[in-house]
Amino acid sequence: MSFPKRKSKWISTRYLLLMGNIAIQFAEADAQTLSCSFYESSCPTVAAVVENVVRQAVQAEARMAASLLRLHFHDCFVHGCDGSVLLDATSTVTGEKTASANNNSLRGFDVVDNIKTAVEAVCPGTVSCADILALAANAAVTLAGGPSWTVLLGRRDATSPATVSEVNSAIPSPNSNMTFIISQFAAVGLNVQDTVVLSGAHTIGQARCISFSSRLYNFSGTGSPDPSINPVYLRTLQSACPQGGDINALRQLDITTPTAFDNAYYTNLQDNEGLLLSDQELTSDSNTAPLAAAYAGNQRAFFHAFGRSMVKVGNISPLTGTQGEIRLNCRVVNPS
Ligand code: HEM
Ligand SMILES: *[C@@H]1O[C@H](CO)[C@@H](O)[C@H](O)[C@H]1NC(C)=O
Ligand SMILES: *[C@@H]1O[C@H](CO)[C@@H](O)[C@H](O)[C@H]1NC(C)=O
Ligand SMILES: *[C@@H]1O[C@H](CO)[C@@H](O)[C@H](O)[C@H]1NC(C)=O
Repeated sequence: MSFPKRKSKWISTRYLLLMGNIAIQFAEADAQTLSCSFYESSCPTVAAVVENVVRQAVQAEARMAASLLRLHFHDCFVHGCDGSVLLDATSTVTGEKTASANNNSLRGFDVVDNIKTAVEAVCPGTVSCADILALAANAAVTLAGGPSWTVLLGRRDATSPATVSEVNSAIPSPNSNMTFIISQFAAVGLNVQDTVVLSGAHTIGQARCISFSSRLYNFSGTGSPDPSINPVYLRTLQSACPQGGDINALRQLDITTPTAFDNAYYTNLQDNEGLLLSDQELTSDSNTAPLAAAYAGNQRAFFHAFGRSMVKVGNISPLTGTQGEIRLNCRVVNPS
């Protein structure tokens, strides 16, 4: 929706008020527009209800903040923010959860169930699972000490999941080069800055050895570790992830402040202490290195940009209006 720019300073206040009313009417009629006031009358307490359950979950386990943030990202990058990542496999449909980027990796589904139960108790059949993920991501980041942003709402839920191959091509791999990762972000309307900023989500959470072990012993078939890893850090990673060891063993993505949402992710990168190849590449690719360095020196700028980029993530191809449905159980489509 776009309006003509104000052409003259002679435009009266009354005219501006009129245009404002028209803008509001357009917003209501325009099924494509998410809005921060979407549940203002139908479920005014939804944000507080979501935050309350997220707070309990994060108090019980700090990592859950990271897991909930990642769920929203993996939902939105595949077919848009439509709650499809939450659908369990059925006898006929595989679903997204067992795609290689997600299997034994995505978590927090039980917390989403708890949020959904709490929301249904106050506003039955009203709030989509896709919106719950968007609200939970914001609550999680805020509770971990990070920024809060204005969560836009009004998404509806998909009635079928994406395929495994769609997940695998949309979700970036930690071993891809930065050029390719930037192209995957561009495919959903996100630019280079968004790529650098959103990678900063790795200031919280954990990764399995399998996600970075290719860097530790025989990097790109060289017979040696990735030379970009800080040597002291390399030794700690090698002892945590020995060759032939448990591929599901976990390491913190941010070695210095693992559960705090701050800009330490970027200062670690300056010290060559990025865990994933895709993290450390931010400082070696000339498109991303200057911004990664800037965020290492300016947490405020990172926080501000992170909120803006998360709103963009939340705007990726939502289902709105009469599309999709409001799922009653986030794991299954409604019975027809
Ligand atoms: C830039 C491209 C990205 C790549 C290649 C990537 C890759 C990964 C990988 C491999 C893991 C560990 C998975 C495992 O070992 O089980 C991970 C974890 C995580 N990712 Fe990303 N990611 C990217 C972008 C993002 C974005 C945009 C966000 C959110 C805005 C995000 C949030 C997270 C979080 C919070 C975790 C930790 C989850 C937990 O501890 O449960 N990542 N990511
Ligand atoms: C997902 O992980 C489980 C448990 O490790 C494994 O049995 C299954 O084969 C995996 N599924 C796929 C599709 O890789
Ligand atoms: C980056 O990765 C893509 C996809 O794997 C590949 O086609 C391309 O050649 C790579 N570019 C560089 C510079 O390695
Ligand atoms: C490293 O990987 C390359 C290519 O996969 C392989 O040919 C080589 O034997 C490996 N080297 C070692 C020391 O494992």
